[in-house]
Amino acid sequence: MKKSLFHNNDIKTLLLLPNIVYYEVPFLPSDMGQSNIFILLILIPLTFTQSVKGKVCVCDLKNSDPAFPMNKLMKVETSALQCTGTITSQKMTELDRLVLGLQQRIKQLEDNVVMLEKEDDRNLYGAVSLRIIELEIAEIQGLFNKLNSTTTNYQHLSLQTAAQLDDMKDTMEELEKFDNMQVIKKERENQRIKRELEQCKEEIKATAPPPTVPPARCGLGRMVSVVGPRTYSLTVYSTSYPYGAWGRDANPARGDENKYWLVVLLLSNVYGHFVRQYNTLSTLLIGIGQTDTYISSSNPTTNTIQGPNMVMYGNALYYNCYNTYSVCQFNMTTRSVSTVALPKDAGYNNKLPFGHLAAAYSYTDMDFATDESGVYVIYASTSNFGNVIITKVQTSNPPVLGQTWTTSLYKGTVTNTFMVCGVLYATRYLDKETEEIFYSYDTKTKEERFDLKINIKKMQTNIQFLNYDPRDHLLYVYSDAYILTYELIFQ
Ligand SMILES: *[C@@H]1O[C@H](CO)[C@@H](O)[C@H](O)[C@H]1NC(C)=O
Ligand SMILES: *[C@@H]1O[C@H](CO)[C@@H](O)[C@H](O)[C@H]1NC(C)=O
Repeated sequence: MKKSLFHNNDIKTLLLLPNIVYYEVPFLPSDMGQSNIFILLILIPLTFTQSVKGKVCVCDLKNSDPAFPMNKLMKVETSALQCTGTITSQKMTELDRLVLGLQQRIKQLEDNVVMLEKEDDRNLYGAVSLRIIELEIAEIQGLFNKLNSTTTNYQHLSLQTAAQLDDMKDTMEELEKFDNMQVIKKERENQRIKRELEQCKEEIKATAPPPTVPPARCGLGRMVSVVGPRTYSLTVYSTSYPYGAWGRDANPARGDENKYWLVVLLLSNVYGHFVRQYNTLSTLLIGIGQTDTYISSSNPTTNTIQGPNMVMYGNALYYNCYNTYSVCQFNMTTRSVSTVALPKDAGYNNKLPFGHLAAAYSYTDMDFATDESGVYVIYASTSNFGNVIITKVQTSNPPVLGQTWTTSLYKGTVTNTFMVCGVLYATRYLDKETEEIFYSYDTKTKEERFDLKINIKKMQTNIQFLNYDPRDHLLYVYSDAYILTYELIFQ
């Protein structure tokens, strides 16, 4: 049976989906970093003698010092460049990625073994799970071997580099003797001070007083940081579709607690027409055992999905209906859609999407969010000058719009939003690596803040989908075809 269920393809898929976790480490000891920043300013003390012979003016030049060995300095500079080329932060973090990837896989393996024990009575499922575990062990072995060889490589590399540095140090000392104007020394001092200044800035950043986020709610305390990514992986679609969404049902039916859903906008990065579900995170990451539930057989058409920012709540998917300013509720059980319209001037069809200075996130007019209290729709309208509006969505059938809050947050400067305990948080694009939670709106006090500074470390440049799961306090992110989770830390 195993044979008929699993082919070589499965193994390939598994190996193609490294599930790794990433964080940054300081990479070079400071005196290593110093090696590439010596300067090339050479001043040679000269003496001049002038004399007039007939009508010819002659200038004798006499160098009182030995000639400066320029070629030596150039050689040192070349070595220094080579050194920084061989040891880069990227290479150093590769090690950490491997270690963390390994940790993550082992944890998943544990989870799966626990699950397998629970499901032991069901034979078919047991065989499938066993096979998944086998595959996981194989992957862990692979990761381990890679880690071993990488570590060995780095040992060589650092030995080699240390020798090179020693060499350079000697040459520089020799060169300094020629440096009567003390230029090298001064410049080095400058560099040291600059470095200290940078360090100082970093420390100030790190020890900045925690941002004042609205008071404790749902017993969580205030949000102080975002850690992760905790999971980082491609889906079964690999890098084909940059727009999509995923997560878990924030209010699952009994037995569905561990289910994951995935919707990828297969057409033009805008339109979707079915929901894919997996029984576990492992099967989602490996890409097997999915169930597809279709809203319609054509895409797009009335009431199919438009834009990536949807959520699952109470076994129903909430999203922006195709080509209208309405909220769609797709009942996964009955496969029927109910709708409720937003105000007529609400943004849709890419009129008021999320964005930043350089670009917009296409068709992100409507953003849905789940928190401890249910479902919200976040959008903008012309009467509110393109600023964000929050409306509670009552998850009855059909859905009904509840209370509304208008903010002064301009939607076009926001990448995405999420809600925690009745507080809306907005993120903005800082650079390719960093997203910043900079804004909050408390729906209880109507207090608005623009001064939060909580960073999210990105693995890809763009975030197309971001939502909070009140059950595990994780942010679920869809970012340029990658699916990630981050942990919210509360104080
Ligand atoms: C790590 O690799 C080295 C050689 O590359 C090998 O000799 C050693 O047995 C490996 N260690 C483990 C634990 O696999
Ligand atoms: C979906 O349909 C089922 C079956 O009719 C019903 O019990 C459930 O309440 C519906 N869900 C929503 C969110 O309307």
